[in-house]
Amino acid sequence: MTKEKIQNIALSPDGSAVRILDQTRLPGEVVYINLRDREAMYEAVKALRVRGAPAIGIFAAYCVYVLAKGYGEDEFFARLDDDCDYLISCRPTAVNLARQTERMRTLAHGMEGKPVPEIVEALGREARAIHDEDIAMCRAIAEAGLSLLHEGDTVLTHCNAGPLATSEYGTGLGPLLLAAERGVDIRAYVDETRPLLQGARLTAWELMNAGVDCTLICDNMAALAMREGRIQAVLAGCDRMAANGDAANKIGTSGAAIIARHYGVPVYILLPSSTIDLACPTGADIPIEIRDGEEIRSLWYERPMAPAGVKCWDPAFDVTDHELITAIVTEKGVVRPPYDVNLQKLFG
Ligand code: MRU
Repeated sequence: MTKEKIQNIALSPDGSAVRILDQTRLPGEVVYINLRDREAMYEAVKALRVRGAPAIGIFAAYCVYVLAKGYGEDEFFARLDDDCDYLISCRPTAVNLARQTERMRTLAHGMEGKPVPEIVEALGREARAIHDEDIAMCRAIAEAGLSLLHEGDTVLTHCNAGPLATSEYGTGLGPLLLAAERGVDIRAYVDETRPLLQGARLTAWELMNAGVDCTLICDNMAALAMREGRIQAVLAGCDRMAANGDAANKIGTSGAAIIARHYGVPVYILLPSSTIDLACPTGADIPIEIRDGEEIRSLWYERPMAPAGVKCWDPAFDVTDHELITAIVTEKGVVRPPYDVNLQKLFG
């Protein structure tokens, strides 16, 4: 497999659109699409064409910039506020979407009274800064995460927390990508991650592109793999971490963590500080996105694999209790329990 340079989010060359790699087309096709209007931007997030907590935050920041270019002088702040609210309403769990959109809104409001072109220019710089910060944070997370692993280890991954979900190294996959660059042999079992198959479609693709030895498994195979001693650590990303260290991530993460605890396998949650929400006291306060049950009933199948009309419950995320997390890996290094105290110390 050839090494692909992944550019998941960028401005179009003329700056009139946000250009994304459409993740719904992977791994079969590498297709970039340009998004100019807010409905198309909203749809791209909803349909997971662009996905992963940090990535949707970066994407939203560029969207605010591109949309702001089209506002007239009189309507500027009314339209800005309306578009920001609209983008934030798209997905509730990952805090990055609201956080980065609010950062853009706050910047613009702080410049009220200045000429509109000046505000728009500042928004462009801010979006780029948010992107650059994520690149730097992911690199630092990859380094810190790699320090917890040993040559010859095999890790379990869940969902996709690689460059597609962030920028460059990713979070949960960062240590694996860095290890591959340095010739350190660290392998992965990749949970396929039902129902949307981010593991099978995206993580396997990214790891194979990077030359990381990976083996795809169904989510329900992790227990046997751990029982047989095939896995030395679980690495996962995060969509929102509460102040006490509870971590919302893709549905199935908490199950993997519970199994890991049973078999004595460490669980590492890797995330940038932009995903930590100290205003959320515990995981119980994190809103969980519920998606269309058709993802379970029929998606990916040539013909539906469940009776038509069967009731489905399709939560997109679950919460891993902080007691199950061995360490949290951030751009400021490895954080150990007690998380309520140590997260506050580092990020409060
Ligand atoms: O529904 P998704 O695909 O956006 O869910 C993404 C995840 O759960 C990731 O693990 C998380 O956003 C961390 S990405 C660095």
